Amino acid sequence: MLASAVSAVQQQHCPIAVTSSSGARLTTPTVAPALRLTSGFTHNSCSSLRGQALKLRVNQPSRQARAISETRTEAMASGHALISESAAWADLKKHVKTIEGTHLRELLKDQERCEELIKEYDGVVVDLSRQRVIHETMLKLLKLAEEAKLKEKIDTMFSGEHINSTENRAVLHAALRAPRNEVINCDGQNVVPSVWEVLDKINTFSDQIRSGSWLGATGKPLTDVVAIGIGGSFLGPLFVHTALQTEPTCALAAKGRRLRFLANVDPIDVARALANLQQETTLVVIVSKTFTTAETMLNARTVRTWITSALGPEAVSKHMVAVSTNLKLVKEFGIDPANAFGFWDWVGGRYSVCSAVGVLPLALQYGFGSVKKFLEGAWSIDDHFRSAPLGSNLPVLLGLMSVWNVSFLGCDARAILPYCQALAKLAPHIQQVSMESNGKGVSIDGVPLSFEAGEIDFGEPGTNGQHSFYQLIHQGRVIPCDFIGIIKSQQSVYLKGEQVSNHDELMCNFFAQADALAYGKTREELAAEKIPEELIPHKMFSGNRQSLSILLPNLTPYTVGQLLALYEHRVAVQGWIWGINSFDQWGVELGKSLAGKVRTQMNAARTKSKPLSGFNYSTTTLLTRYLQGKTQLLYPDPHDVFPTNILPGHEK
Ligand code: F6P
Repeated sequence: MLASAVSAVQQQHCPIAVTSSSGARLTTPTVAPALRLTSGFTHNSCSSLRGQALKLRVNQPSRQARAISETRTEAMASGHALISESAAWADLKKHVKTIEGTHLRELLKDQERCEELIKEYDGVVVDLSRQRVIHETMLKLLKLAEEAKLKEKIDTMFSGEHINSTENRAVLHAALRAPRNEVINCDGQNVVPSVWEVLDKINTFSDQIRSGSWLGATGKPLTDVVAIGIGGSFLGPLFVHTALQTEPTCALAAKGRRLRFLANVDPIDVARALANLQQETTLVVIVSKTFTTAETMLNARTVRTWITSALGPEAVSKHMVAVSTNLKLVKEFGIDPANAFGFWDWVGGRYSVCSAVGVLPLALQYGFGSVKKFLEGAWSIDDHFRSAPLGSNLPVLLGLMSVWNVSFLGCDARAILPYCQALAKLAPHIQQVSMESNGKGVSIDGVPLSFEAGEIDFGEPGTNGQHSFYQLIHQGRVIPCDFIGIIKSQQSVYLKGEQVSNHDELMCNFFAQADALAYGKTREELAAEKIPEELIPHKMFSGNRQSLSILLPNLTPYTVGQLLALYEHRVAVQGWIWGINSFDQWGVELGKSLAGKVRTQMNAARTKSKPLSGFNYSTTTLLTRYLQGKTQLLYPDPHDVFPTNILPGHEK
């Protein structure tokens, strides 16, 4: 019954199917039941279609609302109630009124409140005092966590149960950083020894490459690495690489070596990744959990051709290695299984940076020792997450703040603002971790949500962000901000005669921005400054804009690991409270399959002059224009072209 009601709701999202005068089946993504038009696809019929679609759209919300509400009623009856039906949720909804009567300007005067909201664990300080919460809010949020069985869900994850139910998989990325003596079971087996088997293999291999005992096909040491992968097989490793690049010990260890990433299936990215590299001295790491991702595999074939065109097919065994869970496809690609580094289906792509996905390229660049410290930092937070009481558990508190802001205070977005250039790639990585995990429309039981889950993440390092989008954050929309600051910078500049060091200057902004958002500036303050009356409305700041601050003692491999795990678990907490599955990503499938259809037709149109069929008017028009434009191609027939050395002196 529940399933049929859910499918009734889902059917409402079916595209309209339309038959054009040429008989082509056209689809539009309009939310409406199937509709068949047999007359010609003229301007008039277009407008008649528009008229019908409009009518359908007018009718649609009430029908959809009815179906959703019936589904929910059934869900409640079958024990699949949404968290939004709980008393704890309703209580928080009511509590919003109380919070609306407060201003952070006043709340920040209450020292006892602030003390309660500043937490510390293993050197990481998290300050929630600029969140729009009072003691009572925290109690109510913890009650919500209890209602959502958060503690049990954390325990269930660590126990190796298949909590990713739509893919029937466990979720054990924490096991990737567990110490050797830890026991974490999955399907009746302790997975920690297998994790360490791969780590030991990476240790040995990275040492061979770095020491020059493993040589390329022409006998030269491999000093450069190109890691090919996309999504979780790219963003996490790029984030950590960027964070470590300027750390003195890591920088020293990376001397004379280059690590590049190739993610986008765009020849421009190939050009950027390969610019000024020599095949003889390059090691290619193909990173793909599935080893089927279209973008990665085309890039892998491209770079394999780049290698073999210069060094011959035998060079693959010396110059190409792989990281994957699909060792069968790795072998079929032509990579010796001995040169493959495995991981497991209980590691989600976006949670895989601590597997060989990140560990291998990072160990090649910085040495295994530093990467081990990164894993230890992540484990410090894992251990805290699984054992600390919810009220002092950092990822739990961070997750609860997000739920409060999104679901109760109506904030759709969140800005991630590290005051540290080395964290430049944190926001892009967390975008995937958070938005791919929590961008869901149904509960884990398949019940349509009655609230929006997930949040829109974006960010830039301060102070660059300040000179870009902070205007909107200060006087436009309310966007909860995560400010991330570092006490001891990786690099130091302190000029004679300057009041503060360069890093101090950066951190002055870290402290100032959070208060500017919280306090704002009143009409009275502006009048006292003798601001002309007509400018006062423009110069006023409402304040009362929430942020949180994370302060790390330094940015080392260890603290980078801590930061990563904080965000990973925070996202999971949000998903568990919302009752969704944060570990699948079905939403990325549809676009992939439609791209396949375009690929087939593009090829047929180009090679057999076959007319396009089955696309809507818009796609047909633009695709035709694209194909016509490509008759001017520099290389009309496929042949091996490598856009290398076209960007002299380019450094990625
Ligand atoms: O974007 C979809 C996705 O499946 C991500 O979850 C994943 O990180 C990425 O594609 C890459 O997948 P793979 O590692 O299998 O190539």
